[in-house]
Amino acid sequence: MSRYDTDYEKMGFTTRAIKLGEGPDPVTRALNTPIYQTSTYGYETAEQYDEMLALGAEWTPDIYIYSRTTNPTTNALEKKVRSLENAEDAVICACGMAAISNALLSNLDAGDHVICSDDTFMCTSSMFADILPAKGIETSRVEVLDVNNVEKAMRPNTKVVYLEALSNPQLKLADLPAIAEIAHKHGCKFIVDNTFLSPVVMRPLDWGADIVVHSGTKYYVGHGDALCGIVAGSKKDMDRVRYYYDNFGSHISPFDAWLALRSVRTLPLRVRRQCENAMALAKWFEARPEVDFVTYPGLESHGQHKLAEKIFTEGLFGGMLCVHLKGGYEEMCRFCDATNIPPVATSLGDVVTLMFPKKAYNNLIRFSVGCEDVEDLIADFEKAFDAMKQ
Ligand SMILES: Cc1ncc(COP(=O)(O)O)c(C=O)c1O
Repeated sequence: MSRYDTDYEKMGFTTRAIKLGEGPDPVTRALNTPIYQTSTYGYETAEQYDEMLALGAEWTPDIYIYSRTTNPTTNALEKKVRSLENAEDAVICACGMAAISNALLSNLDAGDHVICSDDTFMCTSSMFADILPAKGIETSRVEVLDVNNVEKAMRPNTKVVYLEALSNPQLKLADLPAIAEIAHKHGCKFIVDNTFLSPVVMRPLDWGADIVVHSGTKYYVGHGDALCGIVAGSKKDMDRVRYYYDNFGSHISPFDAWLALRSVRTLPLRVRRQCENAMALAKWFEARPEVDFVTYPGLESHGQHKLAEKIFTEGLFGGMLCVHLKGGYEEMCRFCDATNIPPVATSLGDVVTLMFPKKAYNNLIRFSVGCEDVEDLIADFEKAFDAMKQ
């Protein structure tokens, strides 16, 4: 057996993030997975090509016909992600919305009904408000913090329950085990968007979800330089997702897959640091007289703090934090404009702290806390509070 055939499956999360799915390139011995920048693959004979085509049609791993369907760089990333999500299989898509569309459309047809939580990312909300209903799929939005609302919304044609584990932007934490039980009792698939936490903090499949989706653009990529989407679950469900993904053309480019692959190796290190910084900042903001309230699952003041302690990896509460300042829109703008370290920007999960002022949410500031030295962030925010009061 070669030293490169080591089975990493039973090793720790960080070892798997670094080592799994990769090894020297079989032809060149390049240690890092190359960017296979090719659309197609050449075979010797018509017969060999036919054999490969038949295997490819069954989604057999490591068969390459055409890069809309499979690509070796993307495949290496799929193997890593599959393991980190505790899934049988994972499909990598062009972006988070491609992952969400494929997960939903591979489980819903005209005449079906889907239940979705009330607080979700804007484009996900558009899917449930406009796009799915226009295709004949019934949708209901419910407040899932009271799990009875999920039970009450069930219809005979309900096929899917969908939610964000930690919601965007209000950071509501859903009781995944309780909702999974209700969904399964009614024969529904339970699909969870875990973008805001990453598998370092929580793995929805461990708590009863059937399918987990991510905007991999966020924590997985972590450097704000690539778009990526993730769907993970059983082999059977992923085969169906692959059928949709292939026909919709939802594939990631080999270069973006390579950037994500490189980034996943440091995912546990980055996220742990982001969680530490977010906890320190949450406590600091909560003690400030200029602050009305802070929303962070690591604080006892968060409504689902006990649930977070139960389902999150010990001691980690994520890197997302919302702060509501006393005063109104003008105070919020003065505070944001006076900071230097965090840019005012959408997106999240990056090594750099990002600040997203949300006028539409009663002037809430959403922070995606990065990996900087937390003392520098605090000094920056201290200065911003001074400017806000002038
Ligand atoms: C919770 C959540 N899901 C999905 C998405 C969509 O991801 P992408 O921008 O990679 O398509 C986002 C984007 O911000 C998000 O916040």
